[in-house]
Amino acid sequence: MNAILEAVDLTKTFGGVDAVSQLSFAIEPGHVHSIIGPNGAGKTTLINLLTGIYTPTAGRILVEDSDTRGLAPYELARKGLGRTFQNLQICMNMSAIENVMVGRHLRLNRRFLSALLHLKSVRAGDRDCRDKAAELMRFVGLEREIDRQPGELSYGALKRLEIARALAAEPRLLFLDEPAAGLNANETRDVGALIREVAARGVTVVLVEHDMKLVMEVSDTVLVLNYGRRLAQGTPRAIQNDPDVVSAYLGGA
Ligand SMILES: Nc1ncnc2c1ncn2[C@@H]1O[C@H](COP(=O)(O)OP(=O)(O)O)[C@@H](O)[C@H]1O
Ligand SMILES: [Mg+2]
Repeated sequence: MNAILEAVDLTKTFGGVDAVSQLSFAIEPGHVHSIIGPNGAGKTTLINLLTGIYTPTAGRILVEDSDTRGLAPYELARKGLGRTFQNLQICMNMSAIENVMVGRHLRLNRRFLSALLHLKSVRAGDRDCRDKAAELMRFVGLEREIDRQPGELSYGALKRLEIARALAAEPRLLFLDEPAAGLNANETRDVGALIREVAARGVTVVLVEHDMKLVMEVSDTVLVLNYGRRLAQGTPRAIQNDPDVVSAYLGGA
């Protein structure tokens, strides 16, 4: 099977420190791939490299066999890469569904800012966009929140709203940076079920997450980082029983 994304000897250095160091891996289509590791292991840096926010210091990233060097995040979004952020990026002065509509607009427009500036024409014109956004809100379990303001929503609902917005751009590969952070056990279970449903729709998921129970339940494969390097990679069961992982990460957590 061809990889949807491949990293080859990927390195990112900040002020002499390798946040990501000579990392190679492949992401197979249709799977849920998790990336775990202690704080500071390089997980967010890795997502920022893969989605075009950072330029690698060394190494290559291939999306469906073509090198992504020099491509801006919006260009990678057009190639089918979507993401959510570790810290919520919801526009509080737009309704919930408008936030999702902006996600769809992101794919069509060059830049987020221009998407915001054109929101009036989105409001007036694009029924189809609104219908698709409403369908996504139902998909993530927010059908009752469509016309609410984000300020009225629970934190768990906002996390799912971010997932709906990312899906609105119709990504083939979706990066989720700690989608369960700050959620209670029930909300975390719901996010886990949602991740499996996203994968069942054919979207490949890359999940960065601290909640080990969630990671073990939803992942097909797990990549463990430590000091920016690969410590282990395998199925959840193999990772749980890997002595290096147990001592470096699970044991020290
Ligand atoms: N923009 C940056 N400038 C300097 N150092 C950074 C920057 N981003 C991350 N780092 C450093 O890189 C390492 C990895 O950080 P990060 O990718 O945020 O880890 P994680 O998401 O696994 O907690 C840490 O040592 C962090 O301090
Ligand atoms: Mg992080």
